[in-house]
Amino acid sequence: MSSLSPHRPEHVHHTHAAPDPARLPPDSAGATHLLQLGGLHPAAIRALLARTHRIHTLMGMAMPLSAPGQAPAPLRGLLKGRVVANLFFEDSTRTRVSFSVAARALGAKVVDLTSVGSSVSKGESVADTAANVAAMGADALVVRHRASGACHLIARTLAELRPAPGLPAPRPCAVINAGDGRHEHPTQGLLDTYTLAHAHGRLDGFDLSGLTVAIVGDVAASRVARSDIAAMTALGAQVVCVGPPGMVPASLRALGCALSHDLDSVLPSADAVNVLRIQFERREPPAGAPHAHGPAAVVSLREYARLYALDADRLGAMKPGAIVMHPGPINRGVEITPEAADSPRSVVLRQVAHGVLVRMAVACACLGVDDF
Ligand code: NCD
Repeated sequence: MSSLSPHRPEHVHHTHAAPDPARLPPDSAGATHLLQLGGLHPAAIRALLARTHRIHTLMGMAMPLSAPGQAPAPLRGLLKGRVVANLFFEDSTRTRVSFSVAARALGAKVVDLTSVGSSVSKGESVADTAANVAAMGADALVVRHRASGACHLIARTLAELRPAPGLPAPRPCAVINAGDGRHEHPTQGLLDTYTLAHAHGRLDGFDLSGLTVAIVGDVAASRVARSDIAAMTALGAQVVCVGPPGMVPASLRALGCALSHDLDSVLPSADAVNVLRIQFERREPPAGAPHAHGPAAVVSLREYARLYALDADRLGAMKPGAIVMHPGPINRGVEITPEAADSPRSVVLRQVAHGVLVRMAVACACLGVDDF
């Protein structure tokens, strides 16, 4: 990198002090990204969750945060003058709105770009689009893309940009992964982990040992599952992935989780059941599901629901105090019935509210704001 970038940003310090494991490591250009939870030091995950808890305490019940700068002191204006650009090349409801609400609440300006209506539809590469938005002065890019690794590619492209002759070196620009293909969705992993800790009284230190989390459904195609497994196991929880063999292949063991194809045998010992949507857009159609690509993983939706849907009976088999989670979007009647989705055990909307707090914490960490 140094050979490519003669005009280094001044704030890049070259010390030989050991890096603080509780901080997200900056890259060679001085930018701090959140690209994945896999491989992050547990102390860094814990620090982001502790920051979320601090924000939660300061915010109290103040939701939603639709207007700019609404957060209470000392959060108000923390990101004033900063620009967060949402680059969503794939559909999103919760994640995009949540990042916008979080950034605006802290006083940042938010720019929204989607592939429809942008030059992506004219053949521009994502790396070029990202470099252009960064060149306009964005401090952070929040990126969702259907290709696994798209966020890493963008971060590397930005780090390797040469300053244009006569112009100052580009400012470091953070890349925050909002879901890349089947790879990761780190802020969802953090908000799921925060919600788990919140429900089971582990907010003090985020030690999740002794807790068992069942992740049920299309784990192989799920970026949410990968981020959940990384964060939850790093903090000591036991994760069991449950689903048919096509969705829960043996290769998942490499992520440090247990596997099962029998939901009913796992339910009585789980402290949380995290239900996933079948990722039809990444698979071939089973009978009854029209829009799908990639390998089929189930023969029929009815058969899938019989074996794996979380319904009223299965809800009754859960441990006292166990919670039902779902990252959304929910396909009612496929992976979960309304009785389960809307039951008192369900923390689905709490997850959404926590998502805003997590994204406030992540935006601050990636933009180097930590004085609260
Ligand atoms: C998920 C996603 O897009 O990765 N949703 C979300 O961000 N909350 C899960 C899904 O699409 O099923």
